[in-house]
Amino acid sequence: MKSMSWIILLAVAVPSVLVDGARAAEAPPKAPPTSQFAPAEDLATQVDYYLKRLDQAVATEEDYKDFVERIGKDSNTLIVIALTLGLHDTDNAYKAAAPAMIEASRQLAATKDYAAAKAGVEAVKKAVGSKTGDSSTLKWEKKADLKQLMLAVPGINTQLKRNAKLRRPKRDGPKAAGRAAAIGAIGQASLYHSADTTKPELADQWYKYCEEMRDAAAEVNAAAHKGDKKAARAAIQKLTESCDHCHDVFAPEAKEKAQAESDD
Ligand code: HEC
Repeated sequence: MKSMSWIILLAVAVPSVLVDGARAAEAPPKAPPTSQFAPAEDLATQVDYYLKRLDQAVATEEDYKDFVERIGKDSNTLIVIALTLGLHDTDNAYKAAAPAMIEASRQLAATKDYAAAKAGVEAVKKAVGSKTGDSSTLKWEKKADLKQLMLAVPGINTQLKRNAKLRRPKRDGPKAAGRAAAIGAIGQASLYHSADTTKPELADQWYKYCEEMRDAAAEVNAAAHKGDKKAARAAIQKLTESCDHCHDVFAPEAKEKAQAESDD
């Protein structure tokens, strides 16, 4: 009799445990084709952009001291850009290099002193040139540090807003497209970091806001390609709303900071 009641208890208890477990572990929504939110040619311009900045940050020990925080943000952004290029539905010059770029950027992000950072930047540059990697090993997953990504977004966004005014469309358009692609890639990659937020139990909301940011950035990117000022303005407005929506839930302390920056 005793064992019977155990079976009944298990029969009642196990399914509800499984349901709860399944909900908590629910995977992020599937990614749309990457070209929809971060065209490969725009991301490629970002690789150059970040390599230049990293080089500059380790030019001398003095520069390193000035730029050490930027290295954390830039190396993590580069992880996400490399992952996005590696998984891209458009063939691109960085596909084979992507796995090595991700690894080298992760190592750079972990450096703690000038010598290591200098060597780390050299390793990233070498990885960018590698032609023999296998991007089929890549999948959307957590590869970066969420905090560093979130700290990187405001700087990218400030430049994006300036360029998205398209005052000189020929020059500003490609810049805006590149910066928007970087934010789109961060939005997509951040989906896999819900467990690292202050409210891991609200994964569904986290997914929603990551997608909102990604898709608004995609609209800015498309408007920049067309040189369409009006569409760019509307898309920037949507992007700003996505920042606020997420901060309301996941980073109330960031909301004022973000708004102060948007008044600049
Ligand atoms: C998916 C959620 C999400 C979205 C979308 C989002 N953020 Fe954030 N943001 C965060 C989180 C979480 C933090 C807190 C990071 C930390 O300090 O751990 C943060 C922090 C910040 C900060 C404070 C940084 C600091 O120095 O402390 C600013 C500014 C900011 N975000 C701006 C923006 C802007 C601008 C956008 C839109 C382009 C944006 N964020 C979109 C989640 C988000």
